[in-house]
Amino acid sequence: MQPTVIAPSILSADFARLGEEVDNVIKAGADWVHFDVMDNHYVPNLTIGPLVCEALRKHGVTAPIDVHLMVEPVDRIVPDFAKAGASLISFHPEASRHVHRTVQLIKSHGCQAGLVLNPGTPVEVLDYVLDELDMVLLMSVNPGFGGQAFIPSTLDKLRRVRERIDASGRAIRLEIDGGVKADNIAEIAAAGADTFVAGSAIFNADDYADVVSRMKAAVAG
Ligand code: DX5
Ligand code: ZN
Repeated sequence: MQPTVIAPSILSADFARLGEEVDNVIKAGADWVHFDVMDNHYVPNLTIGPLVCEALRKHGVTAPIDVHLMVEPVDRIVPDFAKAGASLISFHPEASRHVHRTVQLIKSHGCQAGLVLNPGTPVEVLDYVLDELDMVLLMSVNPGFGGQAFIPSTLDKLRRVRERIDASGRAIRLEIDGGVKADNIAEIAAAGADTFVAGSAIFNADDYADVVSRMKAAVAG
């Protein structure tokens, strides 16, 4: 298991005050910034692109920026995000014609690479690429929107992916995204996740530090 990471999804932040919002969650103890990129094509919503990533870097954000691409095609936008300051770039296999090639492309631009599994995507998609990955991102909701409920069958899927990661012997992170709250994060951690995306649970709270510290305490048991 890798050290615990809490990655607030800025999808639920106040976009009119984005720099300040990111400063505040990092000050509150969060580790990464989860950056949801939606194209109104692969998913039915439209969000932010490399310009906003670059703006956060220029604003002075030094925390890792965890870019979650929900776009199709994938490859065209990868170099732009690398240039804009992305630390990790994750993508959905359904959105890339050549999954192995896209992983290599991300790494060749100096970023860590993650593969994202939707609730309906079988874990077998990891066959033959797991060893190339820095992270597996399991979706516990269908991608497109914040504030959805955690899909319970994801716990079993987490255990299955955890087994595969452990068997690989490599330091691959297991990230979970969707419906993560302070009151379910302990069982999600017990099922094998070490990296936790939380959007509405953090940004809809009055006190970010309180939620982040309750999440970390729950993971630590
Ligand atoms: C959904 C996004 C998530 C979303 C999570 O497509 O990938 O990152 O913002 O939001 P919550 O934590 O509210 O479920
Ligand atoms: Zn996400």
